[in-house]
Amino acid sequence: MGKRRVLTGITTTGTPHLGNYVGAIRPAIAASNTADVESFYFLADYHALIKCDDPARIQQSTLEIAASWLACGLDPEKVYFYRQSDIPEIPELTWLLTCVTSKGLLNRAHAYKAATDANREKGEDPDAGVTAGLYMYPVLMAADILIFNANQVPVGRDQIQHIEMARDIGQRFNHIYGGDYFVLPEAAIEDNVATLPGLDGRKMSKSYNNTIPLWLPEKELRKAILGIVTNSQAPGEAKNPDESHIFSIYQAFASAEETTAMRRAYADGIGWGDAKQKVFERINVELAPMREKYETLIAKPDAIEDALQAGAKKARALAQPLLARLRNAVGLRSLRTRATPESAPKQSAREERSALQPVVFRDEDKAFAFKVLDAKKNVLATQSGFADPKTAMAAAQAAMSSLAAG
Ligand code: TRP
Repeated sequence: MGKRRVLTGITTTGTPHLGNYVGAIRPAIAASNTADVESFYFLADYHALIKCDDPARIQQSTLEIAASWLACGLDPEKVYFYRQSDIPEIPELTWLLTCVTSKGLLNRAHAYKAATDANREKGEDPDAGVTAGLYMYPVLMAADILIFNANQVPVGRDQIQHIEMARDIGQRFNHIYGGDYFVLPEAAIEDNVATLPGLDGRKMSKSYNNTIPLWLPEKELRKAILGIVTNSQAPGEAKNPDESHIFSIYQAFASAEETTAMRRAYADGIGWGDAKQKVFERINVELAPMREKYETLIAKPDAIEDALQAGAKKARALAQPLLARLRNAVGLRSLRTRATPESAPKQSAREERSALQPVVFRDEDKAFAFKVLDAKKNVLATQSGFADPKTAMAAAQAAMSSLAAG
């Protein structure tokens, strides 16, 4: 068996913050040092265009994110580190996948549904302000994953549906064109990765505007940390670390021993000012050497560009042969050669769909889910997260009719 492939995409719309570091960059770089794993990290700049039409911001964010990952210790010699838009095989695959993706599947995507639901609530046309890019987001993401035959995609819970869709789409392609073209990816759910509270105590996130940028100069970092909300308990009063955002942040950086010592300090009534100072010091010890590297890197965009180009070359060496195989499979072939199809033409694919069978079941989270099986018990479509069996069955039937129409 080959190495397990683990793939991560980072959308290039923002400036990296402490939450990104703790929740994504640090664990991913640690994972990239695991033996038997081949890691893929890419800057998802095509995805960025879906949310952002400011070209300067896209470029600046690409630079900052690339420099951050390198400064935090990502070794581009050991992993695949590239920019999505340097891999033309990705948009090409996106089209091949688009042609086997049922529109009904995309109608059910959470992000699209949230946008149309919000419009309906305001009494507007459901699709007002919704671009086809947002609608197609899951197909582009499926192409990112399938082009490298990734086995695992570490994601937060909000992205699970996208991985399920990538599986569905890959499986559908395999089925229609009768081959094992794509490995079907699994979501690796990151439940034990820390989420960092932001300045206001809610999860640190660009969308809440409560972030602390990762590479603030020391003085500003300290000032930002002093600005985190706390309750009004006075110094000397015993404090509950489990209700304190300051403590959660400390814990995300500290060792087990340091954390235990800090728990004791809370019980002993450490003042908020002192507690914040400790948080600043602990974070700064970890970040200072990387900050120095970051500053050197960001001043040399050419060197970063070179690293990305080398990464793209390495990644394309994997993508090109697969795409050539896919083009042959679908019939995009030179007229000079009578290419042999990979397997007997699947004249029966359409007929087989008349023997489809829906199955409703409960998944590990006790939510209702459906599967659509063909005569040979291959799973042609599956989706979970339904509140009751009736809606799951209705969705299964909708999936079946779009399969039959395809
Ligand atoms: N959708 C991901 C996010 O918003 C970014 C992303 C794009 C991605 N393509 C991917 C993540 C492929 C994993 C695999 O965070």
